[in-house]
Amino acid sequence: MKLDLNQPISGKVAIVGAGPSDPELMTLRAVRLLGRADVVLVDALVDSRVLTFCPDARVIDVGKRPGGRATGQEVINALLVKEAKSGNFVVRLKGGDPFVFGRGGEEALALAEQGIDFEIVPGISSSVAAPQAAGIPVTHRGVTTHFSVVAGHGAGGVDALRPAWRDLAKAGGTLVVLMGVKNLPHIVEAVMEGGRDPLTPCAIVHRGTTEDQYVVEAPLAQLVDVAHAAQVASPATIVIGEVVNLRQFIASSEFDHAHQEVG
Ligand SMILES: C[S@@+](CC[C@H](N)C(=O)[O-])C[C@H]1O[C@@H](n2cnc3c(N)ncnc32)[C@H](O)[C@@H]1O
Repeated sequence: MKLDLNQPISGKVAIVGAGPSDPELMTLRAVRLLGRADVVLVDALVDSRVLTFCPDARVIDVGKRPGGRATGQEVINALLVKEAKSGNFVVRLKGGDPFVFGRGGEEALALAEQGIDFEIVPGISSSVAAPQAAGIPVTHRGVTTHFSVVAGHGAGGVDALRPAWRDLAKAGGTLVVLMGVKNLPHIVEAVMEGGRDPLTPCAIVHRGTTEDQYVVEAPLAQLVDVAHAAQVASPATIVIGEVVNLRQFIASSEFDHAHQEVG
């Protein structure tokens, strides 16, 4: 449901996508809701500058950081319920889009189960914004008609995900892999098993839309070595497909070309 900002909104929750990092890429709705928040539960990938939109709110960091402290999903769900039931208007702020590998669905279900009113605000997903920030359109007329967004890790580990990577590779189109840095060698192997040409152009965009953005580019068969040499780290979005060739024509700004490495 869309919350009515002309009415008191205590005891309700907004699950809000903060976009890929750059605060300018937040939606108007996200900024408006943040401005009314009593409590904000924020993820690690959300840029801290976004918090200037909620100067009066109590901010709770529930982010999961590699190797660091993680707040379990059950604990986050319980916190959302508890804070709303205490009469607060709670904004749950998540990187990118809440429903793209964001576990926003689980939070919405937990709220629905408790009869708590909530709104879900989409955000610009890094799956399209990170390639775009590097000058890569995920679809392009005459090059590809579809793209797939794939998780590079998940429950069950590499063995469970491998058949899906292979099948998606077989299906053609652009492959966009999130959370894939750690498993890059397995992903590349599976994609080649799925029949992709070892010369397929690929790029990895680290911290797209931020000043720390850097991009590495290499043909599929060399991607692992080039990424290793450049010490590519998370968060990064991997793009596999002919669309990567367009980058040389589209990534025109100084920012786009900063720190790029070409294999
Ligand atoms: C748990 S997923 C969440 C995705 C998020 N819901 C979205 O729609 O963008 C986190 C992954 O998104 C990708 N990611 C998030 N922010 C990024 C950025 N600024 N640049 C590149 N990739 C990013 C990385 O692959 C990261 O490991």
